[in-house]
Amino acid sequence: MSCWTDQWKDFVTRTSYLQTLAEEKISNDQFWRSYGIYDQALMYSGYPGEILAKISSIISPGATLLDIGAGTGAFAIPLSRKTSRTIAIDPSEYQLQIMSLKARQEGLTNIVTIKKEWKDVLLSEIMAAGVSDVDISREHVPQSDNYAVDYSLAAYSLFDEDIEHFLIKMIDAAKKGVFIVFRANGIDSLSEFAYGPKPYADHTCLYHILSDLGYQFDVMLFPRNYSLPMDLVFQQYRFSKKSHVELLGHLSQEGRLEEKEDGIWASFQTTDALLYLIH
Ligand SMILES: C[S@@+](CC[C@H](N)C(=O)[O-])C[C@H]1O[C@@H](n2cnc3c(N)ncnc32)[C@H](O)[C@@H]1O
Repeated sequence: MSCWTDQWKDFVTRTSYLQTLAEEKISNDQFWRSYGIYDQALMYSGYPGEILAKISSIISPGATLLDIGAGTGAFAIPLSRKTSRTIAIDPSEYQLQIMSLKARQEGLTNIVTIKKEWKDVLLSEIMAAGVSDVDISREHVPQSDNYAVDYSLAAYSLFDEDIEHFLIKMIDAAKKGVFIVFRANGIDSLSEFAYGPKPYADHTCLYHILSDLGYQFDVMLFPRNYSLPMDLVFQQYRFSKKSHVELLGHLSQEGRLEEKEDGIWASFQTTDALLYLIH
């Protein structure tokens, strides 16, 4: 184990939302059910933005895609317009239901869901999901080797203490390429104010773990500046012990509040990193 894998483990167990699950004694699915504004917040924040265009420009038409921790489909839905089949994995039934509803509304019939954590998914399940009753487009070359899919992707979903196993498994599953999306910025001061100082990890931690495993990923950074209405910010920080007044006070001190016709909005700056390996 390297200091980077230790850092990741610390982040997953003590900082990430998995700690909230433990503290609040709620399941992963309950967490996402209590955060029904997730898609709305994504819309205001311009996510996934340019990263999606970059990934879409790399994957070949008719390819198969594995989206690990697909959530409400920020990547799975738009990329499935290009894939022959997308296998969307997520342990939350609620998240998968929202994604499936969006897929139906778009007339997409090539998404298969598997309701599990990545560590519990068998590669044979993915292979079975990838070759059943769907029309494989002409460009797609049927796989005659042991790769489960052409591309694998995990965006803000690498919540596993055994990050090496998580990463190796997603690399081994994909024949043509691997995409990882995670934050490249420091911790937002609001988060530290709301929850106190916590262990931290960003994309460099993942980059070093991959490098130590012998994989040299390329990295691209995508900054995003955006504003959110305060009712969404309060929802995001619903498990904080700070009151709404205290959260507003902190943002006001930092000059991040703006009064608009429909209420108070707060500004945010973030940067997403895309780590990718193309064979
Ligand atoms: C922050 S959301 C990201 C969703 C989507 N990838 C996106 O970029 O919008 C994290 C998702 O990862 C899922 N997740 C958490 N731990 C996971 C694991 N060990 N394996 C697979 N998915 C996981 C959660 O249920 C949740 O839907």
